[in-house]
Amino acid sequence: MFKNSSVSRRRLLYFGASGLAGAIAVAVAKDRLPMYPSQALDNLTRDFKVAGQTPLKGRATAKGLIYGAASGQDFLASDKKLQASIVRECGILVPENELKWQFLRPRPDVYDFSRSDWLAQFARTHKMLFRGHTLVWYQQLPEWFKEVVNRQNAEKFLVEHITTVTKRYAGQMHSWDVVNEAIEPDDRQKAGLRKSPWLEFLGPDYIELAYRVAAQADPKAMLVYNENALEYSGRKEEVKRTAVLKLLERLKSRGTPIHALGIQSHLVAQEAALNAKKLRSFLSDVASLGLKILITELDVSDQKLPSDPAVRDRIVAGVYEDYLSVVLDEKAVIAVLNWGLSDRHTWLSTFTPRSDGAPVRPLPLDSSFKPKLAWNAMARAFDQARKR
Ligand code: XIL
Repeated sequence: MFKNSSVSRRRLLYFGASGLAGAIAVAVAKDRLPMYPSQALDNLTRDFKVAGQTPLKGRATAKGLIYGAASGQDFLASDKKLQASIVRECGILVPENELKWQFLRPRPDVYDFSRSDWLAQFARTHKMLFRGHTLVWYQQLPEWFKEVVNRQNAEKFLVEHITTVTKRYAGQMHSWDVVNEAIEPDDRQKAGLRKSPWLEFLGPDYIELAYRVAAQADPKAMLVYNENALEYSGRKEEVKRTAVLKLLERLKSRGTPIHALGIQSHLVAQEAALNAKKLRSFLSDVASLGLKILITELDVSDQKLPSDPAVRDRIVAGVYEDYLSVVLDEKAVIAVLNWGLSDRHTWLSTFTPRSDGAPVRPLPLDSSFKPKLAWNAMARAFDQARKR
């Protein structure tokens, strides 16, 4: 059930054993437990008490932090309860899909801003910040892309897309994920770069170009490099963190207008490899480059947890509080966003569904918009954070 279930089983076995062999085995097994044992295991003694009922955005603001969430325009426009929850809890809104090429570019010469404009207007009406996701990515490209874009015209497409889209919201965007997920060491390209149409057509410099074009069109927005799978400390993640750090160092040393790292933070409840020390030192390395850090897409997959929703909620809440307490310890972390706000609308229901068919519960509000323990966990982490 858990990734470390072999550990639990071994512990049970060895607790009854006597002698040196047993003691050593227990020590080794303990060593393999997560940094925060409660993270992957249910813990009935852990309470998630919160003082008062102040919404998350107020608690975050009190510490100089920004809190918000992603939402799809279709869900938001048709669901008054979701609207009310987002308005109550969030100080920043990010379109979940509406600014991706697939949505914005129905044909090579047509831009459809109707859905992203709706979301921008919603944010404005409710005095929320607005952030952009994402200008350059290897996924969610339109069907026509592979027929039309090639080595000869790729630069023209990239520059024109970034200019048109960033100009439309110039002066209104808190921040832009200019480039998303450009590192994938498994692809075995130079500098750990991901095999993508952009790399194939333009070479490694497409990244720097993207930031320069974005900065020119919208000099006010914070320009972010957004990346996944940076949080844990498996071999893969370690290699990825090193490659990301090198990329950021290189961009900064060349005077590229980049201002922040976005850490997606799609967490996995049964994952035992959160190493607080290593994560903390990565964050301070990023900060020492003069970059801010945003937690951009936080959710906690409960795909492999036991079926009882109360147990799942406790474990998920523990993951939230443990993770946020580590990352918020770094003062360069200025914002936290969930990828969705309520379990009613979460990409994980299709991306990591449960084998028992029960709905997933990865977000702070349940599917009827009631705060869960994960909400308490986030509130507690904000309340305990140092002021920025
Ligand atoms: C996801 C959306 O939530 C889904 O609705 C869509 O089908 C696929 O993309 N990392 C990212 C986001 O940067 O853009 C992804 O969003 C989730 C993973």
